[in-house]
Amino acid sequence: METNNEEQKFTMPLIGDKAPSFTANTTQGQINFPEDYKGKWVILFSHPADFTPVCTTEFMTFATMEEDFKKLNVQLIGLSVDSLYSHIAWLRTIQEKIEYKGMKNVEVKFPLIEDISMNVANKFGMIQPNSSTTQAVRAVFVIDPKATIRTILYYPASTGRNFDEIKRIIIALQKADKEQIATPADWRPGEDVIIPPAGSCGTAKDRMEYKGEDRYCLDWFMCFKKEK
Ligand code: BEZ
Repeated sequence: METNNEEQKFTMPLIGDKAPSFTANTTQGQINFPEDYKGKWVILFSHPADFTPVCTTEFMTFATMEEDFKKLNVQLIGLSVDSLYSHIAWLRTIQEKIEYKGMKNVEVKFPLIEDISMNVANKFGMIQPNSSTTQAVRAVFVIDPKATIRTILYYPASTGRNFDEIKRIIIALQKADKEQIATPADWRPGEDVIIPPAGSCGTAKDRMEYKGEDRYCLDWFMCFKKEK
């Protein structure tokens, strides 16, 4: 991925890579990643700027869902290239003044990284120069307890993220890791899951002929495990 400037190369870690390590100041004090989050899933996400409307709706939504994420052993960490003073003033304004979709007095308790130097943003490819050289895009990195990047989402500045989808991704990844299954399109927790072709379902013929009550196949390459 090259920018217009031939000298400057855009780099980003990819799915399956170890997440880059960093130390940063946040609204909750200094953090060392990944050391401080051993054994936890982490959602590291960036937003373009404090005191902007879409970002405000995103922070209110994410903060309101924080308990759900904690139950899934997930730590949320936000980032923008604003200063700590700006972060603190913005989060205070959100808590004291903003009411949106029934959410009010929303306290953002998860750390928000100040990254004026763009040190962390550049390590994660959050500054995409043909979009903006001064603001991060809306990036989401889902990082597992071994600090491996498992999902990457990028949204443009104009589009607020779907936080139910981010939660669904975490649930699907955790289930896939635990049960060696895969999840089909638009899967929701409780729905049938897919037995991966190279998995424990045996040969193609076995899979088609398997009459177990918990499995069924639509074709030799497409077997499901019943969840109900
Ligand atoms: C917003 O969060 O509202 C926003 C931020 C940057 C560009 C456009 C919208």
